Formats: sequence, C-alpha cells, structure tokens
Amino acid sequence: MTATRLTRLLSGPDGDSPRLGYGADYNPEQWSREVWEEDVRLMREAGVTVVSVGIFSWARIQPAPDEWDFTWLDEVMDLLHEGGIGVDLATATASPPPWLTTAHPEILPVTATGETVWPGARQHWRPTSPVFRDHALRLVREMAARYANHPALVAWHISNELGCHNIYDYSDDAARAFRDWLRARYTTLEGLNHAWGTAFWSQRYSGWEQILPPRLAASHPNPTQQLDFKRFSSDALKDYLRAERDVLRQITPDVPVTTNFMVMNGTKGMNYPDWADEIDFVSNDHYVHPGPQDRDELSFSANLTSGIAGGRPWFLMEHSTSAVNWQPVNVAKRPGDLARDSLLHVAHGADAVCYFQWRQSSAGAEKYHSAMVPHAGEDSDLFRAVVALGDTLKALAPVAGSEREPAPVGIVYDWESWWASEQDSHPTSLLDYRQEALDWYSALLALGVRADIVTTRADLDRHRVLIAPVLHVVPAELAKDLTRYAENGGHLITTYFSGVVDENDHVWLGGYPGALRELLGIRIEEFGPLLDGESVELDGAGTGSLWTDRITVTEPEVEVLARYRTGAYADRPAVTRRPAGRGSAAYVSTRLGPEGLAGLLPGLLAAAGVGSELPAEAQGRVELAVRRDADSRYLFLVNRTDETVPLPGLAGELLTGRPADADTLVLPPREVAVLRQPAD
Ligand code: GAL
Repeated sequence: MTATRLTRLLSGPDGDSPRLGYGADYNPEQWSREVWEEDVRLMREAGVTVVSVGIFSWARIQPAPDEWDFTWLDEVMDLLHEGGIGVDLATATASPPPWLTTAHPEILPVTATGETVWPGARQHWRPTSPVFRDHALRLVREMAARYANHPALVAWHISNELGCHNIYDYSDDAARAFRDWLRARYTTLEGLNHAWGTAFWSQRYSGWEQILPPRLAASHPNPTQQLDFKRFSSDALKDYLRAERDVLRQITPDVPVTTNFMVMNGTKGMNYPDWADEIDFVSNDHYVHPGPQDRDELSFSANLTSGIAGGRPWFLMEHSTSAVNWQPVNVAKRPGDLARDSLLHVAHGADAVCYFQWRQSSAGAEKYHSAMVPHAGEDSDLFRAVVALGDTLKALAPVAGSEREPAPVGIVYDWESWWASEQDSHPTSLLDYRQEALDWYSALLALGVRADIVTTRADLDRHRVLIAPVLHVVPAELAKDLTRYAENGGHLITTYFSGVVDENDHVWLGGYPGALRELLGIRIEEFGPLLDGESVELDGAGTGSLWTDRITVTEPEVEVLARYRTGAYADRPAVTRRPAGRGSAAYVSTRLGPEGLAGLLPGLLAAAGVGSELPAEAQGRVELAVRRDADSRYLFLVNRTDETVPLPGLAGELLTGRPADADTLVLPPREVAVLRQPAD
C-alpha cells in the first residue's frame, strides 16, 4: 500500500486533510431505522470518521440463494455518507447463512477427531471448500458491483479475523488441498519422505493419496507432517484471502483492501508476516488479557503489528472500550485505560483507533461486550471517555502517516519457531514461545529501553542489539545472516532451544545449538529441562526455571557471564558471550523471567552502547515509542503506572497531554503525552 492510498483513506470520503481514523464495527442490522439516525448523530459527537459495516450481514443481504436485499444497506451507506463518515465495507462472507449450510453441509469444517463443526455460532466454513468459495465470491462480486461508486466507501474489509475459529480443518477437502500443497512444496514423494523423516515408525509413503492431515492418531503424529499442516493451513486461508481480494481489485481497483489480523489474540495459526503483502494496509485486533504483564502484552502486540506492517502505519481495527465477554471473568477497564490503551497502539504506528463495536448489542452472544455506546446510553462515563478520545485523536492529526523510528534493540518474533518449538514429543511441554519473547520485552520496558518487535524478514542490521528468544528453527541461510549480523558489529542474544532444527524440523547434528554453535562458541550435549515448579540458582543472574543446558565452551574467547550455582549442571556456564567479528553473540540457557532478564540485560546492552533514552526518573515507569515523518519526530510517552511521573529534560511541542506549570513535563497516572520535535 502506497502512502498516498493510506492518506486518501485517512482523508475520509470528502478528501479532508489526513487525520487519525476513529470508529468501530457498526452492526445496524441489529437495530431499527430510528436508532441509525441517533447513531450517526452520536458518531459525529464522538468524532467518528470510519466504521466497518456488514461484517456479519450475509443472511440479511442474501436471504435465499437467488434473493438479494441491499435496500437497508443502501440506506445505511447513504446516512453515514451524509454524516461525513467513511465506510470500511465488509465483504460479508464471515458467517455463512443457514440456507447455505443446510443445502451444502459439506462446507462445514471437521476437527482432528472427525467431528463436524456445526452452524450455530460463526465462521463454520472450510477454508478449502470449493462450494463455500463459489458462494462467497459470488457475494463479494455483488457487494463490489453494488457499492463500487458509493461515496462512503473508503476501504474493503475482507471477511473477519480469518482463521479465528476455522484455521485447522481436517476434512476431505483439506486432505485434497494438503496433498496439492505438498506436491508443490516437494515435487516428488522422495522429497516428502526425506523431509518428513518417514524412515521412522514405518511411515514411508508410496503414493500421494496415502497422505492425510494429522488427524487423531495412536501416538504423536509425524512432527514435520504437523509443521507442514500448520504451514499449509495458513497458506490455505491466505489463498482464500487472495481470492476475495482479486475480485475486489478487479471491480474496484482504487479502493484499498484489508483484513483484520489478530497477531497476539487467539490462535497462532496464521503466519501474518507472510500475509501482509497480500493486502493494501495491515489491520489488527487486540484485546487486553488482565494479568501482571497485560499492558506490556498490549504494547508487544502493537509493536509486532508494526513489524508486520514493515514499520508503516496500520489500522487498529478492533479493541474494546471496556470489558469483553469471552474471558473467564470479564473485567471492566479503569478510568484512563480506554484512552491509554488506544494511544499505545497509535504510539506503535496505528493510524486508526477502532473498536468492537459501536453500539452494545441487546441480544446475542456478545451482549455483555462493551462498546462505544454502552447499554446505559450516551449519558455514561464511558461515552464521555469515547468523546474525549475523539478530541485527542483530532489533536494528533499531524501524526497520521508517520512511520516508526527504528529502535536500538530488535526482538525477533518468528512464526516457524513459534509453531515448531511448541510441538509435542519435545524435551518439555511447558515451553511457551510467546511468553519468553514477552518476558524480554517486559525487561526492556522496565529498563526504559526502546525495542522493535521484528520478523525474520526485516532488515536486522537496523538494530544494534538483536534478541532472538527460542529461535528454534534456523535454516542454513538464517544462520549465515545472523553470523554476518554479528561480524558486521551487531550484538546477538539468543536463548535455550534456539538453532536446534532446520526448516524440515531435522536436528542439526554434532551438538546443540547446531546452527548457531560456531557463532556462539559453545556446545551442548544434553538439554536439562526442569520440572514444573523446579528452579536453579545462577551466580549473580537470578533464578532460572523451565530449562537448563549442559554447556561446554568451545572457543577460548567466550566469556562466561553467569554459571549455574545449583542443579544438575552446577558450576557449568549458564550465560555466555562470544566476541564475534565487530559484534558479539550471547546465549542464555534458562528462563530468567522479566526480572531476571532486567538484571542481566544492562551488561549486555552496555557492551553494545545501548541505554535508555528516558530521564532516570521515568525509566521503567514510562514507555517511549517514536514515530517520524520527513519533518518531525513524535515522542509518545505513556505512563505505565498509577503514579505521577516527571519527565525532566524532555522538550518539544505538546500535541496532547497536560502542559506542566514549570519547565518539567509531568505525566499524571496512566496518561499519555505526545511531543513533536523537529526531525534531525
Ligand atoms: C473479535 C471479532 C468480533 C467480536 C470481538 C469480541 O474476535 O472479530 O466480531 O467478536 O472479537 O471481542
């Protein structure tokens, strides 16, 4: 997506000057005509600029195979346009109507244990069903043709959270498509037999038709079959995404297309870095999971989305004004959280702040999910907070279109390693890839050091320090890139269970971590995973859990930064660092958690000349994220605490936040300030 197209989207249907988008999913089919008019009035009051319409409207738009009812949607589109509100129009294919599943039950997904996923909720369709695709694309064509020239249309919203409920389908359609995918990947059965290691357990295939998805089996299904099924399932949905997109591009070539990702929420099944190039701009949905690292996780998700978007602006397509309805206990947000949560996404590159949903439903499974207009109506603190945020976003208009300024530290987040490291039949079933990456991020937040979450596709040389937690899958090319990175002056830090397998999930032999052994200057003969609740003490580097390694240092220049003091490997190295070329390569062999890592990191960062850009008083208490354009830098300063934090020495034009009386900018509890400084 070119910057110009995104600018046009942010200018709204009337082509005003660019601003940050503000809005929600809007489901007018749940309400009467009078409510629609009140909706538009309240949207204007709140400063809403864009709404996503029609996401779950298939049954209303096409009540029977050859019956179409667009009149209500025409009216909604017209009303919104009259109100100056742009429409991110859904293709409406997310939830097939009952007439379709009754006529064609063969579109319903099947679980690994052979059960049918019945209609009754939503997204009950097989990504690989040709019958579903025919019907869905017919609807997409009708939608595109009908609204191609409607002045309210600013973007297309393909389906909804593709893969949220239907990423893994084990049906016969899936089996057929999986075989086609494998033929394209391996060409020959011999290639597949090698990659899958089928010499093991008599699994050798002599015909393509013998291959199945990893359905319920007597014991652990073949690990490479499992990994390939994950790759295939992500690709199958990507292929479906492309099919809808191609219809839209053919009929409305100038209207940008997106689909809402869910990079941290829910399933890890969709390899979004690999999907990002298929759409015109990246959108993401995020919901807070209450817990000790909840806002770190929010920041991580926004930061990762920015990485997936290549540092360019993206859309926050959904989050919540307050409680959700799908957690075990659905906690309401505290005063200030609504704005701070939204602005933290903007800090990490969101050019639009949208919620699920505009008006809280009175019926259905999501009636207790918060919205911009709550059950209590406009006379509510929540709606007043919504209006106030609308004003703040107006004040932040100059930020629209700016990109992220690369941070000194990069944290690599890699889908292949996420998938492979957590598979079954491993040294431990307790490993949590996402948690390890989040712990490093939390540690950096606690130190006030700015970090970008990046994918393995990014330009790694941009970061002076590169942290690659549990980088389990390291193909030969990636090993070379990382070696080059260190030799050219980069400082790599990696952890336990990294560099262990290649792209086929085959172990690199000769001692772990095979692919990175030389670079790190260490050799591991055996892993020492710890039982749940078990821990080991490290000399001066805290307490380790989950994992230990039996490390031998193989190069004389390797420094041992910490040793195990207790446990089976007492006195052996636990944390090492090898000067490599102009840079270095460090290894952390156990799980230290956010506090342990915050203790270890300053030494590693200092060697790379990296420290906090924040005044000492604010380090750990304020998160800093920086966006920039040709003329300006935008410093987002987010108070992570419930206390007032001073920010001495920080100057610039205050775009939002409370001006201080004295020279020192002060951040009240949970508030956000945005400073504009001239670009250097
Ligand atoms: C999302 C979904 C929305 C709504 C929301 C509730 O996963 O896209 O339609 O269900 O969750 O939190």
